[in-house]
Amino acid sequence: MIHSMRVCLLTLFVLSASAADVTFTRDVYPILRANCSGCHQAGEIGPMPLTTYAEARPWAAAIRQAVATRTMPPWHADAASSHRIANARALTEAEVRTMTSWADTGAKQGPVKKVKAPEVAQAEGWRLGKPDLIVRVNGFKIPASGTVEYTFLVTPVELKEDMWIEAAEWRIDKRQSLHHMNAFIRPPGSSYIGDAPLNTHYVASKNERGARRPDELETNRRELLVGYEPGYRPIGWGEGRGKLLRKGSDIVFEMHYNTNGRELVDNSELGIYFAKTAPRERVLSITPADSKFVIPPGDGNYRSEAQAQFTSPVKLISMQPHMHLRGKDFRIDATYADGRHETLLNVPRYDFRWQTTYFLRDPLALPAGTTLEVVAHFDNSPNNPANPDPKQTVRWGDQSWEEMNIGFLEVTFPAGANAEVAKLSDTPKPAPGAATSNR
Ligand code: HEC
Repeated sequence: MIHSMRVCLLTLFVLSASAADVTFTRDVYPILRANCSGCHQAGEIGPMPLTTYAEARPWAAAIRQAVATRTMPPWHADAASSHRIANARALTEAEVRTMTSWADTGAKQGPVKKVKAPEVAQAEGWRLGKPDLIVRVNGFKIPASGTVEYTFLVTPVELKEDMWIEAAEWRIDKRQSLHHMNAFIRPPGSSYIGDAPLNTHYVASKNERGARRPDELETNRRELLVGYEPGYRPIGWGEGRGKLLRKGSDIVFEMHYNTNGRELVDNSELGIYFAKTAPRERVLSITPADSKFVIPPGDGNYRSEAQAQFTSPVKLISMQPHMHLRGKDFRIDATYADGRHETLLNVPRYDFRWQTTYFLRDPLALPAGTTLEVVAHFDNSPNNPANPDPKQTVRWGDQSWEEMNIGFLEVTFPAGANAEVAKLSDTPKPAPGAATSNR
């Protein structure tokens, strides 16, 4: 008894002695630099900069709270039930202990020495270097208040021949007012928003957006090139991989802004990097979606699902769940031809503010005959604090008080192979009765 108490006291003493030693310069700063200051610096989405002692010191208690409850860094996939994710953001137990000990022991500075500057934010320039081609949003006027309609911009790309895109990077201007932005490739001859004027901001109706020619292949209609969402960082598709930009294609921006009380003009840009040599593998975006759901008022756990059935072998490299304010949880499951079943991505508490793309650490081979299923639940009950109105019946729509269930997937296959690799259970169609209004 006495013996074990002495051991206990000893351990306590050792622990508190090392905790008291924790300093900003030596212990905390490297963790902030690697995990926090990418967002927490001027011009980025974090509400306050955390790049120096003077900046971090007043936030010590808030930092303690944020890391101990694991609300920061923001990350929503459950590691235990998902495949290994390359861009996972999470502190180790030891890192959390360092941060909490620092806050608990007076948030000391430690030796004052010159600390390494934070990693340069993209606001300062292109992370991937000077692009070969820049496509611009062209001065989008964001009003001070009200609803900003989902807006499109079709920009023709003058190419002499088909090109391969090796990487693409967003340079976002009015970050605080941009909810998200997508860049699509529209191949020549596509039916996708065929009536939209070129080089002009344009609000396309639901019908225009849903229109497609009978038997038109989705890959000939449009393909997601790259999306921007909060927390975005440019990540390439990897060595020897690229997206195909056929001669005569357009880049179509889909822009979704929020108002914040001030009139602003957004001049965001998309930088495109062409491959010098033809890649071995083509990267293709595939988007299983359910647009037919009708969520009853008050329903706290409404299930919606969509499938992609692979008819040729591919490798899966990334996944992005997309829902709106009533999004509750999201899963992507694979069922293989041999009957095996596994979960690839599990987001148990979906957060609309974070539209994260999850890149698999190891590309996953999906043999022909594999079905991927995206399973989403919506919470339309009053228990969902984000719910704008639990009394509404909710259907598919662009605005955040309407809903979506989309799994944005990226797969690869040999560059020369037929691009029609999957059948989708459903593609977004105009809502019944939607004539020309986007509302
Ligand atoms: C991907 C971007 C991102 C990363 C990485 C990130 N943060 Fe944040 N952080 C935000 C945003 C955006 C907010 C405000 C919105 C929110 O709370 O979700 C925030 C809020 C916070 C707050 C709350 C501020 C308040 O007003 O109370 C603290 C504290 C914080 N972050 C600390 C950290 C720490 C410490 C790390 C690293 C371990 C970190 N963050 C990593 C984006 C980020």
